[in-house]
Amino acid sequence: MSLWYGGDYNPEQWDPVVWKDDVELMRRAGVNLVTVGVFSWSSLEPSPGEYRFGWLDRVLDLLHGGGISVDLATPTASPPPWFSRLHPEALPVTADGLRLTHGSRDTYCACAPAYRTAARGIARQLAEQYHDHPALAMWHVHNEYGTTCYCDLAAARFRDWLRERYGSLDRLNEAWTTAFWSQGYADWADVEPPRKTQYLVNPTHCLDYRRFWSDELLAAFREQKAEINAVSELPVTTNFVFGGWVPVNHAQWAAEVDVVAIDHYPDQAGIGAEEQTAFGADLARGWAGGKPWLLMEHAAGSLNDGRRWHTKEPGRMARHSLSHVARGSRGALFFQWRASRGGAEMYHSAMVPHAGPDSRRFTEIEELGSVLPRLAEVAESNVVAEVAVLWDVECWWAMQGTHLPSSSLDYLAAVRSAHRHFWRAGLTADFAAPDADLSSYRLVVVPSLYLISDEAAANLRAYVEAGGQLVVGYFSGIVDPDLRVRLGGYPGAFTELLGVRVEEFHPLPEDGTVALASGGHGRLWSEHVHAISAEVVDRYADGVLDGLPAITRHEVGAGTAWYVSTEVDDETAARLLGLSPSPLETVHRRRGDTTWTFLINHGEQEAVAPAAGVELVTGEQVDGAVTVPGGGYAVLRST
Ligand code: GAL
Repeated sequence: MSLWYGGDYNPEQWDPVVWKDDVELMRRAGVNLVTVGVFSWSSLEPSPGEYRFGWLDRVLDLLHGGGISVDLATPTASPPPWFSRLHPEALPVTADGLRLTHGSRDTYCACAPAYRTAARGIARQLAEQYHDHPALAMWHVHNEYGTTCYCDLAAARFRDWLRERYGSLDRLNEAWTTAFWSQGYADWADVEPPRKTQYLVNPTHCLDYRRFWSDELLAAFREQKAEINAVSELPVTTNFVFGGWVPVNHAQWAAEVDVVAIDHYPDQAGIGAEEQTAFGADLARGWAGGKPWLLMEHAAGSLNDGRRWHTKEPGRMARHSLSHVARGSRGALFFQWRASRGGAEMYHSAMVPHAGPDSRRFTEIEELGSVLPRLAEVAESNVVAEVAVLWDVECWWAMQGTHLPSSSLDYLAAVRSAHRHFWRAGLTADFAAPDADLSSYRLVVVPSLYLISDEAAANLRAYVEAGGQLVVGYFSGIVDPDLRVRLGGYPGAFTELLGVRVEEFHPLPEDGTVALASGGHGRLWSEHVHAISAEVVDRYADGVLDGLPAITRHEVGAGTAWYVSTEVDDETAARLLGLSPSPLETVHRRRGDTTWTFLINHGEQEAVAPAAGVELVTGEQVDGAVTVPGGGYAVLRST
């Protein structure tokens, strides 16, 4: 088994003379997999029913001749202009009622029957044409599912979905609490998508619209997958995209793809980008259930988005790629192979920049391409994680509502902060769903799990009773899956497990802090906590909550459940979780008696770590300690 290396390859943007150079350069760089065809619909079907596969035949043959495998994509994320002209009803409508025009990508409504038929059709054509091409290694359906629409076609599908979910309008009215503000529905026809309205929207209506879109897009994915599966046994994937706007439940979708694949573009520069990289990779591994997954896209340098422009300094690209590989990716792929000459993303970095191969960027690409084969043996091993952070996308969606008691409540930020504490200590954390089997973890952190089902709450209780250490963050356990408050005191679903009762929320001003008796502080949020059967670990030490519990500890069965009612500073969090800072990003992988250790140094100073075994990049025997230069990395095999 080797590790995949390569990226999106868009030969339709280039003259065929460039294709030969591309294959030559790919060989030089050690590329062994490229994703072809992601946005090539107008080149494959320039007018309705007129297929032109000749150019793609030549490209696939050339790649195969060069020993490069292909991840062949269906081009359905960008229908051609003729499609939109013939089917204007399939153009998407925004929440405020604006019908978009063709001119970018993703201008379709996946609820439009014409779009679905056309998408199935082009997928079938490609599958029939290429299923036995020797270059093919996998199929890539669509690109980054996530586009939604608020048109009447979507409204009709949404109603069907609601009928299926609730069975009756009475049940829907109850779940959505429509008695508030006279929203009671007496006819299904009155239910619309949550379009732009006068004032605050109904939170459950909005949450259900996201749930609906996740299911609808999944149905669209399944249709294309079925066309491919009808003629091909190769794995089928789609690339998951991160972002608050994406109404896709990736944890659920993961069961439907043959390989979990992600695109990852940190939106921070500096060490924040490194933390985000580990976060994205750990999340992907969580979705994949610990099985191998694939980094389908990341950036070789800067992004196309000028507001987030930052060039990756020497060494940074490799460190990001290796962090993904360390955390379970079967390789490292980029968007894209060759920087475009024109078009909307012409300034997005690429493996071959505008400057050509005589460039620092391409030299680093060649270096990385020479390192990855030396690490291939890690591919079949498992990432070792003793701790987990809970992640639930529905909770994230629910906390994006405009109705919460503080605009500072931010689910993603709370989860990232929990993950960051472990990352800074060089400890790998898994992400797990609230209803997952947690028995292999000695410690589980639950950041702001606002929405939780009874079943998931019972699962967490069972974990603690069996000896687990559970650290529950503020604003958890508050509502059920219908977003209805669990009455009798917060944190609703967790009051008994934590042995506390929260009487009232005390959001803090945006820049405000509250002192803790231990010397640390909290920010963003605080709560009026009563320790009922829990022991108080730390107290608020100023303001209106002065002297009241801030952090508590409750022994339940063989385990312990902690409650942290504010966003504590890093030192307090590290103390609570028993962590100390590590100068190196450290990830262990294991198979049988063999352990591989990735050590990645994001700092400028060299760092020394105890180690014994073989360092795979240099092939040198290490005895006692390894020195990792600033900005460098080492991968050790020990038995
Ligand atoms: C991804 C997308 C690519 C490219 C890249 C860089 O999200 O799949 O097609 O747009 O971002 O912006």
